[in-house]
Amino acid sequence: MQQSPIIILGIESSCDDTAAAIIKDGQVLANIVANQEVHKAYGGVVPELASRAHQQNIVPVVNEAIKRAGINKEDITAIAFTNGPGLLGSLLVGSSFAKAFSLGMDIPLIEVNHMHGHILAHFIVEKDGAKNQPDFPFLCLTVSGGHTQIVKVSDYFKMEILGETIDDAAGEAFDKVAKMLGLPYPGGPILDDKAQLGNSTRFEFTHPKVPGLNYSFSGLKTSVLYFLKKELKQNPNFIKENLNDICASVQKTIVDILLIELKKAIKQTEIKEIAIAGGVSANSELRKRLVSFSKDYKVYIPKFEYCTDNAAMIATTGYYKYLQQDFAKQNVAPNARMKV
Ligand code: KG4
Ligand code: ZN
Repeated sequence: MQQSPIIILGIESSCDDTAAAIIKDGQVLANIVANQEVHKAYGGVVPELASRAHQQNIVPVVNEAIKRAGINKEDITAIAFTNGPGLLGSLLVGSSFAKAFSLGMDIPLIEVNHMHGHILAHFIVEKDGAKNQPDFPFLCLTVSGGHTQIVKVSDYFKMEILGETIDDAAGEAFDKVAKMLGLPYPGGPILDDKAQLGNSTRFEFTHPKVPGLNYSFSGLKTSVLYFLKKELKQNPNFIKENLNDICASVQKTIVDILLIELKKAIKQTEIKEIAIAGGVSANSELRKRLVSFSKDYKVYIPKFEYCTDNAAMIATTGYYKYLQQDFAKQNVAPNARMKV
């Protein structure tokens, strides 16, 4: 007798993207993301507006995923959702939807740690079977708007943080500097675009001194602020006239800082399988530098669409939890500060 396929609906709503994905026996059939434009006017994510936009988007996004996947909602085997870390109000929308769907359809509920999702994005398998998966153990540099971590991944759910930021995340540093430069939100990708046209050695910014394999980005933010203040005093058009070079120099500094600690971690652990994950792994300089990192290592870089927040990574993580029959109860509640 032929076994029925395992179809997982994944839901992601931890920050300002409402996303739903369908995977069948581990392969992505649909991956839908609705970005929330509403935050642009405020220069950053406004939590209350994010929750409201999730409420508006979640049903249409799920419907679209089901339609694109070419399935019926009755075909879904289990529902996986992001249960943290993230903005509580945003998480509540996804978790409440998932609990209701699980109850209504009488299917298992699976809670997913958003950071596991970013890391397990490396295990996403395309519809045509295409994949590029690291071998265990591997090191994962997880760089997003809220996190900067070097994680040793020994198995799907066996992860150890070797180092992390003691203050701002790398994505936050990109976004905050972009804001100082008058660039619209989200600043990271826009700063990246400008940087590609600039000279990255034109301005120098100091590196933090942090023990272990940890990071710090708040000092960089302050040094860029003072640098800009000083230059603007002498030339009010300084930013306008030097925008691309400032972006390129800041971007180089952030990537240098990220890679110095990663190289230390590689040396300490002697692990040669290296991966990056999270929104900042979409950064062109980081991707370029990693590709030419070293012939001694194997480097895994996710496709753009799987770097930033998406539900394919949540559904894939859910699929591995499903295989372990690791289900959540109806009384599960989001945890805004969930750890890896
Ligand atoms: O993983 P993600 O989508 O959401 C969080 O979980 O935080 O990451 C979003 C972060 C933002 O800070 C955004 O500016 C940054 O990733 N980001 C980038 C690029 N694309 C996204 N930063 C630098 N260069 C990029 N190309
Ligand atoms: Zn994320």
